[in-house]
Amino acid sequence: MSQETKKIKVTTAVIRDMKKKGEKITMLTAYDYPTAFLIDQSGIDVLLVGDSLGMVVLGYTSTLPVTMDEMIHHTKAVCRGVQRAMVIGDMPFMSYQISVEAALHNAGRFLKETDAQAVKLEGGREVAEITRRMTASGIPVMGHLGLTPQSIQQFGGFKIQGKGDEAARRIIEDAHILEEAGAFSIVLECVPGDLAAEITRLLSIPTIGIGAGVECDGQVLVTNDMLGTFERFTPRFVKKYANLSIQMREAVKQYMDEVRSGIFPGKEHTF
Ligand code: KIV
Repeated sequence: MSQETKKIKVTTAVIRDMKKKGEKITMLTAYDYPTAFLIDQSGIDVLLVGDSLGMVVLGYTSTLPVTMDEMIHHTKAVCRGVQRAMVIGDMPFMSYQISVEAALHNAGRFLKETDAQAVKLEGGREVAEITRRMTASGIPVMGHLGLTPQSIQQFGGFKIQGKGDEAARRIIEDAHILEEAGAFSIVLECVPGDLAAEITRLLSIPTIGIGAGVECDGQVLVTNDMLGTFERFTPRFVKKYANLSIQMREAVKQYMDEVRSGIFPGKEHTF
């Protein structure tokens, strides 16, 4: 990436254009200022303040307990660290399902109270009307199909979706419905690679895959998974690019050893 490209703020138009040019879109999650700062400096295209926050940062066992106030708090911190990447706020469970009015109010909070440029919400035809109203109100929407973690109780666990002709046909229909409703992009989570490839060919908006194969227009991972700081479980689709938990434990142990033995602080750390 050239220095010139690095300076340009990524927008929905940039994301759409990348699909047209066949350039892969890179996306990761972030929940705090220092992580967002470092990832943005590395040149990522999109930063999602995912409701995965609940599991990888707040220690809940699912994403369901996450509140709008928690999402706003963390999205503000992420936005303070970002210059170039597009920042997307994830709508938490029950922030858009109750009524169109509540959904618009909550989506609007991301744009009014933080510097996020768009929101993401889970679901297909059932969120089409909400997607249409948000888009019409000037709130860009990223869709999310396949394994949608907010429906985990309905799915009965973290399982691959879209297997079999009927299930695949439904996801393809949902993707068309979301595109028609105005979504600027769609996350495809845990669906077979050939289904994700077909949806990617059929849509003019970009698809972002997570456990959906290499044919999507872009890829997203939960940062804490790929950096190895979340150890409770690691889905098969995650590639660990680092194992920072090992380094953290070693650093903390060395610090404790040095404090206990009087090596730290040294002369250079002492006034
Ligand atoms: O909450 C999240 O981090 C997400 C991504 C996994 C797409 O929805």
